[in-house]
Amino acid sequence: MPKSAQRPTRQTHPAGESVAVFAPATVANLGVGFDILGMALEAPGDIVRATYREQPGAALGSISGDDGRLPRSAARNTACIAGQLVLERLSASGGVSLDLEKGLPLASGLGSSAASAAAAAVAVNALYGAPLDLDDLLPACVEAEASVSGRHADNVAPALWGGIVLVMSAEARAIHPLPVPEELHLALVTPDVAVPTAHARAVLPARVSMHDMVRQTALVAALIHALHTGDLALLARTAEQDPIVTPARANLIPGFDQARAAAREAGALATLISGSGPTLCALCVDSATAHAAAGAFAATYERLGIGSRTFTTRPSLHGARLIK
Ligand code: HSE
Repeated sequence: MPKSAQRPTRQTHPAGESVAVFAPATVANLGVGFDILGMALEAPGDIVRATYREQPGAALGSISGDDGRLPRSAARNTACIAGQLVLERLSASGGVSLDLEKGLPLASGLGSSAASAAAAAVAVNALYGAPLDLDDLLPACVEAEASVSGRHADNVAPALWGGIVLVMSAEARAIHPLPVPEELHLALVTPDVAVPTAHARAVLPARVSMHDMVRQTALVAALIHALHTGDLALLARTAEQDPIVTPARANLIPGFDQARAAAREAGALATLISGSGPTLCALCVDSATAHAAAGAFAATYERLGIGSRTFTTRPSLHGARLIK
């Protein structure tokens, strides 16, 4: 993204000072845009509080909201990895302690590791006077994400910038904001099954046919055209049609076909796998339809005897931000 014209000057900070940053959940891929499209959500999200300390480095303080599932080691935590890299970028002599409130379920396809990384990067930068802009923070977040789920920026970019973004590569200059249709409302369901991103990437085909390549290219182009023109009918006709990634992953998500059919019956435009799943995201034209689709998702999983969590939300134009 274009560099902001001015950067604030660096400041010194007394020990004990802290800042908290919220970073949103993100829906990567948008169906046909594997690894190149991502969208920020209004909610849920992760909160990272960064507290200044004199000892150098990013230390892990507390983690809440993860049911004890995240490793308690800074070297394996994306918030700490991103925080550490930002400290290095700042040439900071002091360090930070990071407290992480997980609002996002783990391994759910909602960009959990990316939200933690983005919140930490923005918080550490803010604590040190915000000398860096989002372009500068992106590499730290991409590295953190790569350490747990592969090198892709379609979660960290919308978690940092908000909105819907095209991610041509993991470099800041290759990230482009796309229009977000005003009417777009979302219904999401996370069935009770963990799908680690690394596993969902391992099931993808190593090669694709020329036929599928041409089809996929047309679908991505049509989807981006639909966003630019606000043509939700075209969006509906393209988003679900991915011939490559979605079919390879559908088996990892119990009830995928039934849930998609139920959402369509409830009026949803299209239902996508959110990132690497298992969360499914229904695109809807208004709030009432989103609520109906969420109800249809819940009823489907109840009928299948599979636990699930549903919610409705909207795309967010805002990425990681200070909250207090
Ligand atoms: N584009 C990535 C994937 C996103 O689908 O594997 C992971 O959340």
